[in-house]
Amino acid sequence: MDVPILDVISRFVHVFTAITLVGGSVFMAFVLGPSANELGEEAHNKLREQVVKRWKKFVHGGIGLFLLSGVYNYMAMIPKHKGDGLYHGLVGTKIILALGIFFLASALVGRSKAFEGMRAQRAKWLKILVLLAAVVVGISGFVKVRGIPAKVAEAAAAAAATE
Ligand code: HEM
Repeated sequence: MDVPILDVISRFVHVFTAITLVGGSVFMAFVLGPSANELGEEAHNKLREQVVKRWKKFVHGGIGLFLLSGVYNYMAMIPKHKGDGLYHGLVGTKIILALGIFFLASALVGRSKAFEGMRAQRAKWLKILVLLAAVVVGISGFVKVRGIPAKVAEAAAAAAATE
């Protein structure tokens, strides 16, 4: 059996990055944030500074890994889903939502003055990020489980036979 090793590596990188970044965001939105609110302001600010300093590296590295593995996954899937409008519509929507998530995550760990207003409402934006991530994971899971519809696979096989 020929194992497509690059496909396996790319899938591992993509899923592991999603687990790490989405899991970390859920933890911050629903566990760390509310717990830190119970500390005094000075301690809370200190903790936030330390957490953001470290989390920023995960966010920037994770965006790079998502883009690399995601583009690779998509390139691998395009020939298998030729003429499959639902697949491309869903994956296109997912990619746009993912870019929105990358923007939110970067703004929350960044230092740009333009996004200070968002950082002042960190808890709200983090929950919105988690909601968008849930939609992205839902779409990704759906297209994976749905697989390649028989009609699309037959058309691809017929096209390959005439080449
Ligand atoms: C917030 C960022 C993202 C999250 C949480 C995410 C999550 C996921 C998950 C959970 C899967 C299913 C993996 C599996 O079962 O093997 C997946 C697959 C995939 N992702 Fe992402 N992803 C993100 C960003 C991206 C980006 C930026 C791209 C493209 C540039 C992308 C392209 C894909 C493709 C093409 C697949 C395979 C779909 C298929 O099965 O046909 N993803 N993603």
